[in-house]
Amino acid sequence: DWFISDFITDAIKDIQQTVGQQHVVLGLSGGVDSSVSAALIQKAIGHQLTCVFVDHGLLRKNEADEVIGFYEKHFDMKIVKIDASEMFFKHLKGVVEPEAKRKVIGKLFIDVFMNYIEEHNQEINFLAQGTIYPDIIESSKKGHSSKTIKSHHNVGGLPKNLKLTLLEPIKDLFKDEVRQVGKQLGIDDKLINRHPFPGPGLGIRIIGEVTRAKCDLLREVDAIFIEELHKNDLYNHVSQAFATLLPVKTVGVMGDNRTYDSLVALRSVNTIDFMTAQATHLPWDFIDHVVSRIINEVDGVNRVVYDVTSKPPGTIEWE
Ligand code: XMP
Repeated sequence: DWFISDFITDAIKDIQQTVGQQHVVLGLSGGVDSSVSAALIQKAIGHQLTCVFVDHGLLRKNEADEVIGFYEKHFDMKIVKIDASEMFFKHLKGVVEPEAKRKVIGKLFIDVFMNYIEEHNQEINFLAQGTIYPDIIESSKKGHSSKTIKSHHNVGGLPKNLKLTLLEPIKDLFKDEVRQVGKQLGIDDKLINRHPFPGPGLGIRIIGEVTRAKCDLLREVDAIFIEELHKNDLYNHVSQAFATLLPVKTVGVMGDNRTYDSLVALRSVNTIDFMTAQATHLPWDFIDHVVSRIINEVDGVNRVVYDVTSKPPGTIEWE
C-alpha cells in the first residue's frame, strides 16, 4: 500500500531530522500504539532510543517476556524493564473503588517512569509517545464533558516541568493505519492483532482489593480462555475477551468433596468502536470446554459464569 510505505519513509526521515544525535525515551507497554511508535523510531535512530517497560504486576501471563523478547530479538531494541510490582501491590492495599484504583495505578506508573527519566536526565532529550489521532480528539472532547464514565490515562498526565520534547510519530494515524504500519515494519501478527488491554491491567479485572495472589490466579484463568480462543480460530473474530475475578466464593463439588472457592466471569464482546458492544455468541461447546479446563487446572476456582450484557447498559470492563 503506497500510503503506508510513504508514511513509513517520511516518518523515519522526519524522526532522523528531528532527533539528530540526541536520545529518545519511550514507555513501551506492548500495546499496538506504543509498539509501532517504538519500531518506527528504532528504524530511524537505532540505539539512540531506549524503551522503558514498567511491569506493574498487573499484566497477563508471560506478557512482559513475550513483548520484550520479540522487540529485542527482531528489532534489536534497547529495552529497560523495571519490575515495580511490589510497590504497586503495596499501594493497592485496601483500595476497592474502581476510580481510586485507576488513580493509584496511573499515578504510580507515571512516578516510576518519571523516576527513570530523572535518573537519566543527562542522556535524554525526547519523550516519545504512541498518541494516535483518535486520542487527540477524545481528550479534547473529554475536557468539555462533565460525565467521563471511566478515566483513561493514555493522554496527558505528564508533568509540565519536564525539559523534554515530545515525539509523537503516529499522531496523525487511525488505529487500522497504525496496524498496517506495524505489519509492514515486521511486527508479529499476534502482537498487532492483540485485543486492547486497559492501562490499569488486571487491577480493574479483580473486583475488590487487588493482591498478587489474586493476579496470579486470574492470569491462569485468562491464559486458558485466550489460548482456547486462538486454538479454535475465534480470537480474531472477537474484539476483546478476558476474565474477571469476583469477590465471591460459592459452593461446589469435586469428586467426593465439597469445595468453597472463587467465582470468575468470562466476557467476550464484539464492537466497532468500543462505545457500544455486544456479547459474543460463543459456541456452547467451546464455552463448556474452556470452563472445564479452568476448573480443572486453576486451583481456587470452582465456578465460571459468562457475561452476556451488552454495552450499554454494561461497560466492557466490570470496573
Ligand atoms: P469500558 O469498560 O469503558 O471499556 O466499556 C472500553 C474500552 O476501554 C478499555 N478501558 C481502559 N483502557 N485505561 C485504559 O487504557 C482504563 O482505565 C480503561 N478502562 C477501560 C476497555 O478495556 C475497553 O477496551
